[in-house]
Amino acid sequence: MSLAHGIRTLGVLGSGQMGLGIAYVAALRAKTPVLLYDRSTEQVDKGLKLMDKLLAKDVSKGKIQDVEAKEARERITVVSQEQGMKGLRDVDMVVEAVSENLSLKQKIFSSLSAECRPDAILASNTSSISITKIAASTILEGQSAASESGKQSAARVVGLHFFNPVPVMKLVELISALQTSEDTLNRAKAFAVACGKEVTVSKDVPGFVSNALLMPFINEAIMWLEKGVATKEDIDKTLKLGMNHPMGPLQLADFIGLDTCLAIQQTLYQGTGDSKYRPSVLLERMVDAQWYGRKNGKGFYEYPDA
Ligand code: 3HC
Repeated sequence: MSLAHGIRTLGVLGSGQMGLGIAYVAALRAKTPVLLYDRSTEQVDKGLKLMDKLLAKDVSKGKIQDVEAKEARERITVVSQEQGMKGLRDVDMVVEAVSENLSLKQKIFSSLSAECRPDAILASNTSSISITKIAASTILEGQSAASESGKQSAARVVGLHFFNPVPVMKLVELISALQTSEDTLNRAKAFAVACGKEVTVSKDVPGFVSNALLMPFINEAIMWLEKGVATKEDIDKTLKLGMNHPMGPLQLADFIGLDTCLAIQQTLYQGTGDSKYRPSVLLERMVDAQWYGRKNGKGFYEYPDA
């Protein structure tokens, strides 16, 4: 079947809360076959269970028909560990959604560049890392960034920043690297729209528009807790009820993941050199303690069901 957005098969790298959400909206809303790859089979199993739960919930709420859920689930294929990244060789687009680590992403994009078709879009769901740096890692050994093949390789890289929970949040932030082509931007945008999202565009600055504004706010709330200005409950309640935010900043930090919040804050601090972005010591210590928030059961609050 030919789909209007032109993505006949999507590769999704990473089956954590973001990768799984992206696979879900692609399969259900954009009706696109998805090849899902994660180097942890345990994480894939966990992700697929969540996918089944989300689809069953949508059916029980009458949002979708049973047959739509079944079709969406059938569009998801897991890439085996043996195939690895080679399993993504024929896709039209890949969205990478692994953890916020530059060297890991550089390694992945270098492999994708070697394995995928030259016209495949290579998108990163990074929350803050430079898309320009990621794009540069697609230039293979022996290739020059100034050569036609080097330019073409990097021109297909784009930032496609989804928000958590992906099935609910209406936005995708599109980030253009210095090297990104207009064609890549347009195709990536059309795909995000087919997934049911509105799109904004940001330049490739640390944290882009979204996290350059959100993370200092969260970090400041953690500093206020550290200073003992108010209890965690009162900080959250103030923002929730006083400003109509859906969650208080500490609840939101737990929801995003404290390790992710710290990684973004560090990128902002290192990328700008501005002391206003210095991560709070309490956030650093909580990540040292492996208190990552909702995803592993303990952050500012406790989550016994994690
Ligand atoms: N996955 C899928 N759907 C979910 C979900 C999840 N994890 N959590 C909640 N939902 C759905 C519910 O099923 C429900 O759907 P319905 O309207 O069809 O019944 C709807 O969301 C509302 O859920 P609830 O009634 O259970 O709870 P709330 O009304 O409190 O909403 C929330 C939950 C949508 C998470 C809301 O609290 C919220 O919007 N919080 C802020 C989230 C936010 O700011 N996200 C962005 C984080 S920043 C980011 O992702 C960028 C990254 O780079 C760091």
